[in-house]
Amino acid sequence: MSALSVLLFLRKTTRTNEDKNSLVNRERDMTCMMKNTTAVAVALCLSAAPAFAADVEVLHWWTSGGEAAAVSVLKEDLESKGTGWVDMAVAGGGGDAAMTTLRARVTAGDPPTAAQMLGMNVTAWADEGFLGNLNDIADAEGWDDVVPPAVQRFGKYEGNWVAAPVNMHRPHWVWASAEIFNELDLEMPTTWDEFFAAADAIEAAGYTAVAMGGQPWQEATAWEAVVLGISPDLYQSAIIDADDAALRSEGIVESFEIMRKIRGYVDDNFAGRDWNLATSMVINGEAGMQIMGDWAKGEVINAGMTPGEEVLCGLVPGTQGSFLFNTDFFAMFDVGDDKKEAQLQMASAAMSPTFQETFNLAKGSIPARTDVPGDNFDACAQKSMADLAEATANGTLFGSLAHGHGQPPAIQGAYVDVVTQHFNSDMSAEEAATALADAVAAAK
Ligand code: GAL
Repeated sequence: MSALSVLLFLRKTTRTNEDKNSLVNRERDMTCMMKNTTAVAVALCLSAAPAFAADVEVLHWWTSGGEAAAVSVLKEDLESKGTGWVDMAVAGGGGDAAMTTLRARVTAGDPPTAAQMLGMNVTAWADEGFLGNLNDIADAEGWDDVVPPAVQRFGKYEGNWVAAPVNMHRPHWVWASAEIFNELDLEMPTTWDEFFAAADAIEAAGYTAVAMGGQPWQEATAWEAVVLGISPDLYQSAIIDADDAALRSEGIVESFEIMRKIRGYVDDNFAGRDWNLATSMVINGEAGMQIMGDWAKGEVINAGMTPGEEVLCGLVPGTQGSFLFNTDFFAMFDVGDDKKEAQLQMASAAMSPTFQETFNLAKGSIPARTDVPGDNFDACAQKSMADLAEATANGTLFGSLAHGHGQPPAIQGAYVDVVTQHFNSDMSAEEAATALADAVAAAK
C-alpha cells in the first residue's frame, strides 16, 4: 500500500471524534513519509511538527465579518494538520472581483493553489483544462454517496471530481428586524401584498423599509427570487432553460413590476452599498427587512445574535416549497506535483463531516453532505434542511442564477445587466422583459 493510500485509508476508516487528534497526528506522519523516502528523512520528519511542508494559496472573496469567521475555521483546520494557508482574499460580495483577479492570475501563468468558485465557474475552468483531478480522495472518502446529485453536477467534470463543495447556500430569504417587527406588531410576510403592507408600516414609523445594496449581483439575487415566487415553472423556463417566449412572458413583466415596487422602499444611499452593510442595518434596527442569501445569517451570528430570534428569517413571498441553491466549491489548479498533497489535504479537510458542521454553523449555510446531523444548527438552517429534502422530492430545487448555478458566466452576465439597468432607471417592465430576452438571445 502506498503512503498516499494509507493516508486515504486512515481518513476513511477514522470516524469518531476521539480518533480525530490521533488521525491528525498520523496524517502528519504519513504525509511526511510521502514526501521523504529515506529512513533518515522519515525519522527527522516524525520529530519535527508541523510536518506538512507545503502551503496552499487560497483565492476567495470571504471578507465580511461572518465570512471571515467561517474562513478562519478552514484555515485553522488546515494549519492544525500542518498545511500552511496563504490568504488571497479579494473583497466584493458575490465574487465578481475575485473572478476577475483569478482570470488575471491564470492568464499571467500564476494560478493560486486553490480558489473559491461557484458552480458553472467550476465547469468553465475545467472546460479550459486548468483544474486538477480529486478522484483519489473523493473515491477514498465516498463523496459520491454523501453529496447531493444537484451539487455533484457542478463539482464533477466529465465524471471526475474537480472541486470540493463546502456548503449549500439558499439565496431567497427575507431577514427582518425582530425589534421593529415586534414594535409594529408585524408578521413575516408570505405574499407580496403583505410584504408591501409591512414595508409601508415600517416606513411610516421612520425606519428604512428595505435594506439593499445597489450592486448588480444583489439586485439579481432579489430578482431571481421574485421570479421563483411567481412560479417554479417560470424559474425553470425563463432562467434554467433561457426560453425566449418565457423571457418575453407576462410573468417576467410582472417580476420587473415587483422589482420596481421594491425599489420604492429602498433608501437613497443604497448605490454601491455592500450586502453586509445592508445586513447591519437590519441587525442594528435601522431597517426592517433585507432580501439576501443566508450568508447574511453569518453576519447575524458574528454579531452575537440568534437567527430566528433577534433577526427573523422568512422566505421571499411565493418561494415556500421551492429551493434555490448556490454552493461554494474549492477548485484546485493544476500547479505541479509538489502542491498535490497539500491540495488533496485541503479537499479532504473541506469535505470532512466535522469541518462541514463547524464551518456552516459560522457561514449561515447548510452542509454539502447529507450525513451531517442538523441538531446543532439554528432554526433557519433546520428549515433549509427540511425544505431542501422537500424541494428535491418535488422537483423544485434549482440552481441560483445570480450565484453561478443557473447559466454559464456569459449568459448569467446578460441577465444581471438587464436586471440592474431596469432597477436603476425608469425603464418600464415591458421594456425590461424585451431587453432581457434580446440580451440573453445575443449571449447564447
Ligand atoms: C455568494 C457566495 C457566498 C457569499 C456571498 C456574498 O456568491 O456563495 O458564500 O460569500 O456570495 O459574498
